Parts: sequence; C-alpha cells; structure tokens
Amino acid sequence: MMAITLSTLNKLKQEGTKFTCLTAYDSTFSNLASSAGVEVLLVGDSLGNVLQGHDSTVPVTLQDMIYHTQCVRRGNQGALIMADLPFMTYATEEQTFDSCAALMRAGAHVVKLEGGAWLKDSVKKLSERGVPVCIHLGLTPQSVNKFGGYKVQGRDPAERDALIRDSIAAEEAGAAILLYECIPSDLMELIMTKVSIPVIGIGAGPSSDAQVLVLHDMLGATTRKPAKFVKNFMPEGDGSIQGAIAAYVAAVKSGTFPGPEHGFA
Ligand code: KIV
Ligand code: NA
Repeated sequence: MMAITLSTLNKLKQEGTKFTCLTAYDSTFSNLASSAGVEVLLVGDSLGNVLQGHDSTVPVTLQDMIYHTQCVRRGNQGALIMADLPFMTYATEEQTFDSCAALMRAGAHVVKLEGGAWLKDSVKKLSERGVPVCIHLGLTPQSVNKFGGYKVQGRDPAERDALIRDSIAAEEAGAAILLYECIPSDLMELIMTKVSIPVIGIGAGPSSDAQVLVLHDMLGATTRKPAKFVKNFMPEGDGSIQGAIAAYVAAVKSGTFPGPEHGFA
C-alpha cells in the first residue's frame, strides 16, 4: 500500500470516498489495521481506559503516549499515524511545542489536541512549524471532570453555535483534520457545510468524511456496556480479527456504518 498522507485524506474527501480510522496502541494491531486498509491509526489516550484500566484519560502521561506511538510505528503498513497529546501536556505554548516534538519523533504524523477557541494560537504556530494538528471537539474526554460525566455535546443552541465557531476557527488557524465525538447527527451535517478540511466522527452520525472507533470496542473485547455509537464487527466478518477490521472498513466505505441507531438526535 502507498503511504497515506494528509494529501491522500484531502483527495479522498474531494472524491467523496469515506475513509476509516481505528485506535491502535501496539505493533501487532497497527500491522493488522493498516494492512486491512485503515487509513488513519489513532494512538488514542483512550489507552488509559482500554490498556491501563483507568476510568478516564486524565492519568495518561506523555511518556505513555511516546511508548505506544513507537510501538504503533513499528507495525504500521503505510497508514497515517495520529497521536493524542494527553491531559495537561499542551497547557502552555512551550509545553505544547515540546510535547508535539516528542510525539512526532516517536512516529506520529499528526498530533491531536482536545479543545476549541483557546487552542487557536497553538494550532497556528504548530502548523507554521510543520506539525499537522487534528482538533478534537464535542465530547472531549480529558474534560470529563468539568463536564460532570460523558454526555452528548452541542444539544442546546449556545453550545451548537460555539461548536460551529470553534470549527471555523480551527480551520482558519491551520488545523489539518477535525474530529467530533458525541454530537447530534444534524449538527455534524451542518458543520460539514462550513469546513473544507477532512472530518472524522465518532457518535456524530454518517455525514463526516471518516469514522473512528476504539479497536477493542469494535472487536467486542469490552467488559462494560458499549456506548450507543459502537458496533461490534466480529460477527460481520469471517470470525477473525482481520475479518472484523475488513468488515468495518467495508461498512464505512459503503455508508452502511454508522446507521441511524448509532447516532444522536
Ligand atoms: O483516545 C481516543 O481513542 C479518541 C477517540 C475516541 C476519538 O480520542
Ligand atoms: Na483521545
């Protein structure tokens, strides 16, 4: 497979071809997912929940993210690697630069930061310095203690307006990718008409350019009740993990996933 770059994602968007993203935290799954045609591997700080057993992403450190990004890089077969900056590792500008440099050296091609307008200057400066940024909006799990739980975002008119403003501001500042988690499907549709960079969604309906799921969730390897937006793809394939990932890729590309039952009104 030809290596996927930001240009590839922009081209897919222009063509109207959906692309896929899955979390990857280690070399083996990085290899399986990228070999199955998953365009973007997300070294997500969800590894705090999935691998480390925490009840949020707040305890995850930059060192943890560096280690897992290095693991994912070794198994990768040409996917674009995106890595999360964990909680409070981008609180000041100097710190943001250092954190991004560390993740890029570890193998990230894109870094993901959670937040809206307050990140505008950081996005601009990172982009100018050669660091492609994905801005994660909507339900931003690092703020769970501020939200008071994991709740759908953008339901009241003020929140909707703020999300639209943040989206436009992020693109203007030079963001390369936008990612939305747990927002109403109709709000995602509206935002899609206002931005021109690639958009990834989770729990945001079918209108985004791409979908992302946590790998363990889509393999049914979960101990808790899965969120509404999750689909277990194990029964959709040939019984193998490779088959489940291939079924996910096919479902996103053909538009059969996510269905209306995976979205929020
Ligand atoms: O950490 C993660 O896995 C994420 C996705 C859920 C978008 O940020
Ligand atoms: Na994350």
